[in-house]
Amino acid sequence: MKDKKIILSGIQPTGTFTLGNYIGAVSNWKKLQEDYNCIYMIANMHAITVRQDPTALRHNTLKAYALLLACGIDPERSIAFIQSHNRCHAELNWVLACSTQFGELSRMTQFKAKSEKHPDDINAGLFTYPVLMAGDILLYQSDLVPVGIDQKQHLELARDIAQRFNQKYGETFTIPDAYIGEVGAKIMSLQDPTSKMSKSDENPNSCIFILEDKDTIIRKFKRAITDSDTCVRFAEGKDGINNLITIYSCVTGKSFDEIEREFDGKGYGDFKIAVGEAVSDHLAPVRNEFDRLMTDKDYLKDCYTKGAEKAERIAYRTVSKAYKKVGFLQL
Ligand code: TYM
Repeated sequence: MKDKKIILSGIQPTGTFTLGNYIGAVSNWKKLQEDYNCIYMIANMHAITVRQDPTALRHNTLKAYALLLACGIDPERSIAFIQSHNRCHAELNWVLACSTQFGELSRMTQFKAKSEKHPDDINAGLFTYPVLMAGDILLYQSDLVPVGIDQKQHLELARDIAQRFNQKYGETFTIPDAYIGEVGAKIMSLQDPTSKMSKSDENPNSCIFILEDKDTIIRKFKRAITDSDTCVRFAEGKDGINNLITIYSCVTGKSFDEIEREFDGKGYGDFKIAVGEAVSDHLAPVRNEFDRLMTDKDYLKDCYTKGAEKAERIAYRTVSKAYKKVGFLQL
């Protein structure tokens, strides 16, 4: 496994993926399979830091796994698994928690945001979540972690925890680097382009889900908030248009200059429809493949079973090493 660099990343199975998840993370994951040994997981243990309906979580986990494959993750070439199927994640979490400071976790902006959103359920898991995430990464001796910009702080913490552990107990973990795409690392809400596109946004028009049909996608883009200018160009202060140009660029592969030339003399209305069509056309094969995979549950089960076995084999070595280093008597 060490002939190529190791990549690990994960995504929570809370509803279907958003266009932000897709552009900021999963579409990069697909490309990275060419040059790296890739490990991708559905982070269902992370999902229960906020209240979940158990039946819905089970179903959404399977859907998220199918969607991962539909987005082009090849389970033969990469390891694609479901987090709770590998007990090593929970085990390393405990060991790492004892090398993480309360103060560090208190500074996590996502914890602050989520606890404001769910004031009646500020549970310990929500607080220690970045430790579980550090474990996800360190278990596989990952070199690179492809994520959107909102995960950068968690990644820095994972590096700090790994460095501290290595210093205390001797070389145990590879220190991971974040891999954040130059374009599309933060796709913004279509209704408030100063905040991140998020699946938990209460306004359904703010967020595109990648399984939505063409009409819905185009309608949401038509309603996207822009500005009072009429010229399609990327410029400071034009957050809404900048976001649409970024999205259009990511799904068509066109540069910002090409896009500005293409829409020279055309208004925002034409541009919004073009973005909606391009996004929907780009995602059509994903939707078709997802529908096909969901009719073949045996295949999905076979893939996630094999994925879990491969993941556990690697992770077990790391947990055993960490257990030895901290002084746990071996059985
Ligand atoms: P999650 O499920 O919130 O998001 C999955 C990935 O999508 C990226 N992302 C975005 N990128 C650009 N624009 C957006 N609007 C946008 N919204 C989400 C996220 O940055 C992320 O890369 N804690 C992680 C899951 C996780 C993980 C890990 C990731 C668990 N263990 C280990 C990396 C390594 C999370 O909640 O992502």
